[in-house]
Amino acid sequence: MDDMLKLARTMMARAYAPYSKFHVGAVVKSDDGSLHAGCNVENSAYPQGWCAEASAIAAMVGAGQRRILECVVMAPGVEIVTPCGGCRQKLREFGGDDMLIHLCHPDGLHRTVTLGTLLPMSFGPHNLGPA
Ligand code: THU
Repeated sequence: MDDMLKLARTMMARAYAPYSKFHVGAVVKSDDGSLHAGCNVENSAYPQGWCAEASAIAAMVGAGQRRILECVVMAPGVEIVTPCGGCRQKLREFGGDDMLIHLCHPDGLHRTVTLGTLLPMSFGPHNLGPA
């Protein structure tokens, strides 16, 4: 967990969030144990920005991995930050209900939930059958 937290802190620091000023870092661990990290990247045309989770997933796919076992989401503030709806679905593409989502602040882990809790009865690759 410490290596994931450290990477997430680095990603938070590198986030490009000049509009919201809300820096988010995300790290996914794939089933070979490798870590892939990303941050949110905003855009002056607001809807064109994307979330930290999307960046981390893109890094993982680019590294040739396809299965997420765990994900750290790190954000500032007092309230625990959970992945947005779109990111829950993006995570679902690469893992099941048992995926662990670690909700963190820069000071460390605050709570762990499963993807199944965040996105119950999800639509996923299984609905489309073998590719
Ligand atoms: N954001 C993320 O990167 N991940 C989340 O799970 C929630 C929201 C970003 C998107 C936007 O750049 C900023 O936080 C404010 O919504």
